[in-house]
Amino acid sequence: MNLELEGKSAVVTGASRGIGLGIARALAAEGCRVVIVGRDEGALRSAVAAIGRGDVTPFVGDVTEAAANEALAAFVRDRFGALDVLVGNVGGNRRGRFLDTTEDDWEAVLDLNLRSHLRSVRSLVPLMPTGSAITFVASIFGREAGGPGLSIYNTTKSAIISFAKILALELADRGVRVNSVAPGSIRFPGGSWDRRCVEDPEGMAAFVAANLPMGRFGSVEEVADVVAFLSSPRAAWVNGACLNVDGLQSRSLI
Ligand SMILES: NC(=O)c1ccc[n+]([C@@H]2O[C@H](COP(=O)([O-])OP(=O)(O)OC[C@H]3O[C@@H](n4cnc5c(N)ncnc54)[C@H](OP(=O)(O)O)[C@@H]3O)[C@@H](O)[C@H]2O)c1
Repeated sequence: MNLELEGKSAVVTGASRGIGLGIARALAAEGCRVVIVGRDEGALRSAVAAIGRGDVTPFVGDVTEAAANEALAAFVRDRFGALDVLVGNVGGNRRGRFLDTTEDDWEAVLDLNLRSHLRSVRSLVPLMPTGSAITFVASIFGREAGGPGLSIYNTTKSAIISFAKILALELADRGVRVNSVAPGSIRFPGGSWDRRCVEDPEGMAAFVAANLPMGRFGSVEEVADVVAFLSSPRAAWVNGACLNVDGLQSRSLI
């Protein structure tokens, strides 16, 4: 299938490693001109080198800050004039039972998993023409309970899925689609699941047996391909959706 992404402009937030890097690589392979965003210039330059093909440009900024998103929008306007694809991928977690979490924990993860995306949308949507697409990287633990210790993560991931739906309704008449994806546990070198597998191979083998019906973790590429599709005109009739990309890990019926 030709995704018809050749020459489209794209921004991927949180793209110096992991899932964001994989999404940038997939979009570049489809011919997009991609801006990758992260806080560490060296890591972004390594990411550009790792992608190794296509038109990929680093932008250094902390997307939890409104000013960084405004600077990103100015950069995109100067470089491309308009933006066809926005992937809000940044996100993270502070694990802990609710009564052990602090105000600072909540503020930090709300900033990263929710407010960063609100700020990116506020700055970048004015550049997005009819036919463009926004995709947020949420989690299966925004659609169903992840368990004790995940109150901040679960709450913020549910919030971004809700936001995506309402934003889709609000931007529908402009022809801008908004979706989210809900990955399950994704393993990549240096990522959090990889670290846990190295530190506790037996415990993680038990985790896989109990939680991952297909007997393995998901890969970055398996998430990136779905995001590339959702970002493309070939997904024109997918709007306001949240797609699981989890190899059957989640148990929700909806
Ligand atoms: N890995 C999984 O199993 C999994 C499962 C479900 C959902 N997800 C979701 O998928 C997304 C990516 O996960 P991941 O595991 O690939 O994450 P990761 O390895 O922690 O990578 C996060 C990326 O975001 C950048 N970043 C972090 N804070 C930033 C900020 N304030 N401003 C700009 N860039 C920032 C990081 O670079 P710098 O630190 O250099 O800025 C890095 O490039 C997250 O939303 C996560 O919740 C992951």
